[in-house]
Amino acid sequence: MKVGHNIKESGSNLGFHQGSSWPGFFIFKKCSSSFLLNPFSMKKIFTSQTAIVTGAGTGIGFEIARQLAQGGASVVLNDLDEKLAEKAASGISGEGVTVWPVAGDVSDLAVIQRLVDTAVEKSGRLDITIANAGITTFGDFFEYKLESLQKLLAVNLQGSFFLAQFAARQMRRQGTGGRILFMSSVTGNQAHRRLAAYGMTKAGLQMLAKALVPELSPFNITANALAPGATLTERTLTDDPDYPEIWKKLSPTGRASTPEDIAQAALFLVSPAAGQITGQTLVIDGGWSSVSPEPPFE
Ligand SMILES: NC(=O)c1ccc[n+]([C@@H]2O[C@H](COP(=O)([O-])OP(=O)(O)OC[C@H]3O[C@@H](n4cnc5c(N)ncnc54)[C@H](O)[C@@H]3O)[C@@H](O)[C@H]2O)c1
Repeated sequence: MKVGHNIKESGSNLGFHQGSSWPGFFIFKKCSSSFLLNPFSMKKIFTSQTAIVTGAGTGIGFEIARQLAQGGASVVLNDLDEKLAEKAASGISGEGVTVWPVAGDVSDLAVIQRLVDTAVEKSGRLDITIANAGITTFGDFFEYKLESLQKLLAVNLQGSFFLAQFAARQMRRQGTGGRILFMSSVTGNQAHRRLAAYGMTKAGLQMLAKALVPELSPFNITANALAPGATLTERTLTDDPDYPEIWKKLSPTGRASTPEDIAQAALFLVSPAAGQITGQTLVIDGGWSSVSPEPPFE
């Protein structure tokens, strides 16, 4: 079962997401798992739009691609791994859902070109681009190797920068505006041991969203970033099986985020409702980065 679908079962067909009280989001039972319906995807407000989502074979990217497709968008779904991209694309179902898998490494400019070309060849347009693919390389600052840094820069920064550039060129050509979203992290504004290089790339993405405002606003293209905190994905759960318990204790909301939490915010920022929001970073971390460790006295 996809982690993205691994939400606490509600007793009935209709209930609120664990820890969520916004009545717009409901859990519906489907087969043996539950999944969220986002008001943005329920209304199919992305019909006639085409989106690219990178690193979408699993985790957060997969869930964003799934919700966009169910919201009516045609989606170019990228992952490094060809089989994973195909499996993910065929795992997104629903009435009128269109997903095209395109495998390849986003640090390769030829792959980025292929993503944009696929969108244009298949649908004649590109409206939404989500630079989600990113790698997390932990490492002691004193021992960090050039090779690790170069890989991190190539995927997280170069891959996102040129995806935005190639996408924006197409959106400018179309003259219909567009939405670009970068996947940053709370580590882009909060220091973590062993994550100096990763945090540096994620801070860079927040600045990139801002820096693109004067470049893209004349073409009605917005650029924003999401900064997730601890999120339950295949990767984080494999790296540390205790991850949910640890973040249950650390998060003011009492739980780690799910890919659904991140996807819902992504869908809002790339929707028509967010036309006046650009250059911003939205933190989604259950309040974790809003609080500092408390002193021991009452
Ligand atoms: N999971 C978290 O707790 C968390 C927190 C903050 C930020 N993020 C960011 O969110 C994004 C997604 O995180 P996740 O945990 O869902 O991802 P993940 O690490 O599980 O990776 C998702 C997919 O990206 C693909 N991928 C890796 N390198 C790629 C490349 N060069 N080109 C194309 N695809 C590539 C992988 O094959 C994988 O299927 C990343 O940018 C990550 O830095 C995640």
